[in-house]
Amino acid sequence: MFAHYEMKIFSGSAHPELAKRICESIYQPLGNATVMQFADGESKVRINEDIRGRDIFIVQPTTSPANHHIMELCILVDAIRRASAARITAVIPYFGYARQDRKDRPRVPITAKLVANLLTAAGVNRVLTMDLHAQQIQGFFDIQVDHLYARPVMLRHLRAKANIHPLAVVSPDVGGLKMAEAFSQALGCGLATVAKRRKSDTEVDPLYLIGEVEGKNVFLVDDLTSTAGTLTSAARICKAHGAKEVFAGVSHAVLGELGYSRLAESEITELITTNSTPVAPPPGSKVEVLCVASLLGEAIKRIHNDESVSSLFE
Ligand code: R5P
Repeated sequence: MFAHYEMKIFSGSAHPELAKRICESIYQPLGNATVMQFADGESKVRINEDIRGRDIFIVQPTTSPANHHIMELCILVDAIRRASAARITAVIPYFGYARQDRKDRPRVPITAKLVANLLTAAGVNRVLTMDLHAQQIQGFFDIQVDHLYARPVMLRHLRAKANIHPLAVVSPDVGGLKMAEAFSQALGCGLATVAKRRKSDTEVDPLYLIGEVEGKNVFLVDDLTSTAGTLTSAARICKAHGAKEVFAGVSHAVLGELGYSRLAESEITELITTNSTPVAPPPGSKVEVLCVASLLGEAIKRIHNDESVSSLFE
């Protein structure tokens, strides 16, 4: 239905490098927009080309500083809507605030739902995202959501490793079991999980391990890592239960200094992640960044052409 409209891809300031690589992967020029800040920090946006009747995609992972990037995305959407675009798709490879998706104690917000409401109110017509913290967040939007997985990209990297078997895929917390199960199915190996208790934003206690890792390599898989507390404590308990080498994989890395230093000191040999966020591991770190630009580019092309995106899950 939109295939006969011209496609245009724009970038916010969150991750212009990813937007550039997405455009290169599908041979599209990056749309010409000014996205900057006024002296007082307010966002200043201008679309520098005619986009009337175009099918627009805006690449903006809502990574740190999340509030700024969310607001900037809304402002871009507003400018594009007022310039008479035919449709606006927000391409949010990393959806920030996703961990605030329920009232898990009294008097707290459901910020993920608030962000969905804000984007829709601004004029977003559909969303393309990847590995949401919880699949149910798709239902926070009353517009179409295409949800991709980084799994095929990570599996390609893992399968290229010699001698990775015998292997067990381990979820570092019970909430991630479904994601880990999909990896264990694809790799044809065992599945285990760690039960963790979160003590604070940065500290977790691994309580126990359910499943068998003795004498096996371990692949710890999670949607994201921030302070690396979850991954490194899970690696510790796996080692204590006789695991050989411990690898880890997360779709999104929002690592700070604490995360990198924990990883450096941990039992984890390598952490694979993707460029869904502008992750820049320090030289010599254990972090390997895989590119998801072609995956996102292909999904954009298919959405534009009204083609199925589900074959990209394999
Ligand atoms: C929580 O449920 C998430 O899936 C991650 O396990 C968690 O947010 C990772 O955070 P950190 O790296 O700070 O432990």
